[in-house]
Amino acid sequence: MLSYKHGYHAGNQADVLKHICLIQAYKSLKKHHNSISYIDTHAGSGDYKFESDYMSKNKEYENGISILENYKYENQSIKFYLKIIRNINNSKKISFYPGSPLIMSHLSDNSDKLSFYELHNNEFILLRKNLSKQINSKFFNKDGFDFTNQKINSNEKTLVLIDPSYEIKDDFEKVVNTLRILDKEYANLTALIWYPVLNVENNDLFIENIRKIGSNRITRIELPLKKYNEDIEMKGSGIILFDGSKFLINNMKECIKELYQIFKDENCNIKPKIQKI
Ligand SMILES: C[S@@+](CC[C@H](N)C(=O)[O-])C[C@H]1O[C@@H](n2cnc3c(N)ncnc32)[C@H](O)[C@@H]1O
Repeated sequence: MLSYKHGYHAGNQADVLKHICLIQAYKSLKKHHNSISYIDTHAGSGDYKFESDYMSKNKEYENGISILENYKYENQSIKFYLKIIRNINNSKKISFYPGSPLIMSHLSDNSDKLSFYELHNNEFILLRKNLSKQINSKFFNKDGFDFTNQKINSNEKTLVLIDPSYEIKDDFEKVVNTLRILDKEYANLTALIWYPVLNVENNDLFIENIRKIGSNRITRIELPLKKYNEDIEMKGSGIILFDGSKFLINNMKECIKELYQIFKDENCNIKPKIQKI
C-alpha cells in the first residue's frame, strides 16, 4: 500500500534541484540528438496547485520555488528553469507547481517519445488526465523500476528520471541494482536518480554501495541544506547522474553553488558536492 503523496512536497528545494538538473540534461542531449526517448519511472500526478489540501498543509514550496521566484542573478540554468515553470503556469506569478511529467511534456517536441510509470492508482488517473492532450506519451500503471524490461532501442538516445519516494526502505537498494544494470547493459542512456540525504550513516552507505559498482560513468551532485547529523530527517538531497555530459556537469557546478547560497540553513556544516564516484 503506497501512502506517499508528492503534493505534500511539490516545489520544495529538492524538486528545484531535481528539475533544474532534468531540464539541463534534456537540453544538453538535444544539442546532439534530434529525438530523445524519455522515461519517467516515478512520475507522480504532474500538477500541484498551491491551494490544494496537500500543498497547503506543509507549504514546502514556500522554502523552494517561492524563494527562487525572486531570483535576480545571472545563472542561466536557474533562469531557464524559472522561465519554463512560468511558461507552464502561463503567468509570471507561479500559482501551481508542475511535476516532471508536465515539465518534460512542455519541453519535448513530437520527435521525442515519453514514457511515464506511476504505481499509485489515484496518482496514475490524475497523471493521465493532466497529460490527456499529450500525443508523444505512453503511460504505465506499473512498477517503474521494471523499465529495464522495456525494450530500449540502443540506437536512440534515452534519458531516464528515477525519482522514488523512498517510502519503501529497499528503494535505496533498488537504485543501486538499477545502476549496476545500466552500467553493464546500456551504452546510449543518461539517467538522473534523485535521493534524499536522511542521515550521515545512511548516506555514506548508499554512496559506498554505488562506488562498489566500479563504474566510471557515475557523478554525485549533492546539495546539503541543514547540518548533517544522526537524526533521521531530510538534510538535503542529491542527484546520481549516470553518463552525464561534461557540459551538464560544468553547468551544475555553478548552479549548485548558487542554490546552496540561496537555500542553506545558517548552521549547515557541509559544502555542496559534484564528484565522480
Ligand atoms: C517523488 S514522487 C515523483 C515526483 C515526480 N517525479 C516529479 O518530479 O514531479 C514519487 C512517485 O512515485 C510513485 N511510486 C512509488 N513507488 C513506485 C514504483 N515502484 N513504481 C512507480 N511509481 C512509484 C509514488 O506514488 C509517487 O507518486
